[in-house]
Amino acid sequence: MSDIFTEETRDRARAIMARYPAGRERSALLPMLHLVQSVQGYVSPEGMAFCAEMLGITKAQVAAVATFYTMYKRRPTGDWLVSVCTNTMCGVLGGDKAYKALSEHLGVGHDETTEDGTITLEHAECLAACDYAPVMTVNYEFFDRIDADRALDVVKQLENGERPQPSRGPRLCTFKEASLQLAGWADDRDGAVGEGPAGEPTLAGNRLAERFGVTVAGFDPNTPIGGNGNGSGPGHSVPPTAPKPASDGKPAGDTPAVGKESK
Ligand code: FES
Repeated sequence: MSDIFTEETRDRARAIMARYPAGRERSALLPMLHLVQSVQGYVSPEGMAFCAEMLGITKAQVAAVATFYTMYKRRPTGDWLVSVCTNTMCGVLGGDKAYKALSEHLGVGHDETTEDGTITLEHAECLAACDYAPVMTVNYEFFDRIDADRALDVVKQLENGERPQPSRGPRLCTFKEASLQLAGWADDRDGAVGEGPAGEPTLAGNRLAERFGVTVAGFDPNTPIGGNGNGSGPGHSVPPTAPKPASDGKPAGDTPAVGKESK
């Protein structure tokens, strides 16, 4: 094992593992992959070996997870990961043009990094902000309702060493800093935490529902999230015919249709 991962990183890995019940430390793999990404800017073969060693699992098991999720990068990532949504909603509203403009300006394509190693470009398939379409993110912070010019403006500020302010949420931090936050270490700098209510585009549907008296039958808006703790609150009801878990402890699947015998 190389010394890329210092004792401080090992301490952090142990702290992540301690969040999980004894014997279930392998559940720490997801944040631990963010941790190694915070050190190297991507999940390298050494990073996978580090996770495997700390968790007592195989490198193949780590690789199976690391290669599944797009937030784990397999190649060195720049300080600034620029993700442009080119999914249908954003694409037709200008996301495709913005991505093309950035690709031409930076001279890189999808999942490629500029020669100086500072900016990685990728196209993304729905960044879950369709109400602000078209959107792009820098290290997962949103820039809403962009067009090609606005996207270029943001990237040029990054090239100049500036940190443009996202449309909402906290101020920008580097990809490695963001990875450390995702591993569970809060950023205590001023402005590092975004606060405030949901924006108007997000609430538009709710406002229309209020205006036209559209409600969900039987729904109590004052119900605490999580219900009453015994699993009987809205959204947490247990169907009377819920199947028992299989003997291997895995979920048994969908509730069988009433009157339908399993063969
Ligand atoms: S389609 Fe772009 S955020 Fe959903």
